[in-house]
Amino acid sequence: MTAKIIDGKEIAAKKRVEIAKEVLKLKETGITPGLAVILVGNNHASRTYVNNKQKACQDLGMHSLLIEFPETVSEGELLSKINELNNDQSIHGILVQLPIPKHINEKKVIESINPVKDVDGFHPINIGRMMTGQDSFLPCTPYGIMVLLEETGVSVSGKNVVVVGRSNIVGKPVGQLLLNQNATVTYCHSKTKDLLLHTTQADILVAAVGIPNFIKADHIKEGAVVIDVGINRDETGKLCGDVSFADVSEKAGFITPVPKGVGPMTITMLMFNTVKSAKNAGS
Ligand code: GUN
Repeated sequence: MTAKIIDGKEIAAKKRVEIAKEVLKLKETGITPGLAVILVGNNHASRTYVNNKQKACQDLGMHSLLIEFPETVSEGELLSKINELNNDQSIHGILVQLPIPKHINEKKVIESINPVKDVDGFHPINIGRMMTGQDSFLPCTPYGIMVLLEETGVSVSGKNVVVVGRSNIVGKPVGQLLLNQNATVTYCHSKTKDLLLHTTQADILVAAVGIPNFIKADHIKEGAVVIDVGINRDETGKLCGDVSFADVSEKAGFITPVPKGVGPMTITMLMFNTVKSAKNAGS
């Protein structure tokens, strides 16, 4: 079997057209959705992500504010800026690009963001709401994966899903969202004893481990839906995912490529969440 490619770039573009229409409607009521992004230090990858987030805002006609701090910023200064943004009516979403320097308590920073402006969906209140199936801001990469599955016509209910990776940003929440839609979810991680035993049972496999080409054809069941969250560089410096695309795509039913798979959906869902927050503020 040769897998059908799930085109994240195309699906993201379609969603962005819908979001742009919502932005226009809001602007007609005098509200311009605004996103504040805080970048601490000079991490090259973080800067690229932040630039892409700003560009997406501009493309959609949204207000975007970039706040930069040096690596040496104190926790107090950062918290005081977040407090200011919590009280700024022109800002509907606040995002602190992770990772942040070790001398700053990441949990404290995330919890200082007003949950109604937590468009990353990282605040414990939003995570708790997601777990109990209440309306909340959903974390952008997991949310993007759910939209990719929906747009591809993959039904989740009753399916065996295996999530490889258990990060707070991707692995844990994507498993929860799939469970909320009645999948049978298994989490695998670095301490899992027999990875193949689990992954070969998966109707849907989500790879979010951050190891280049980690998932091979032997790991998957014939016809499985394979979602690759990895953004890595292989030994030649080429961008690659957590899934060995060349061999897995010969066996899977559907597969997301890297790039142009999950990646474009993350920023799209961030824009969606920011517009949702602006709508909430106006209602
Ligand atoms: N670092 C890597 N991914 C993310 C993300 O989705 N949000 C934030 N704030 N930081 C990140």
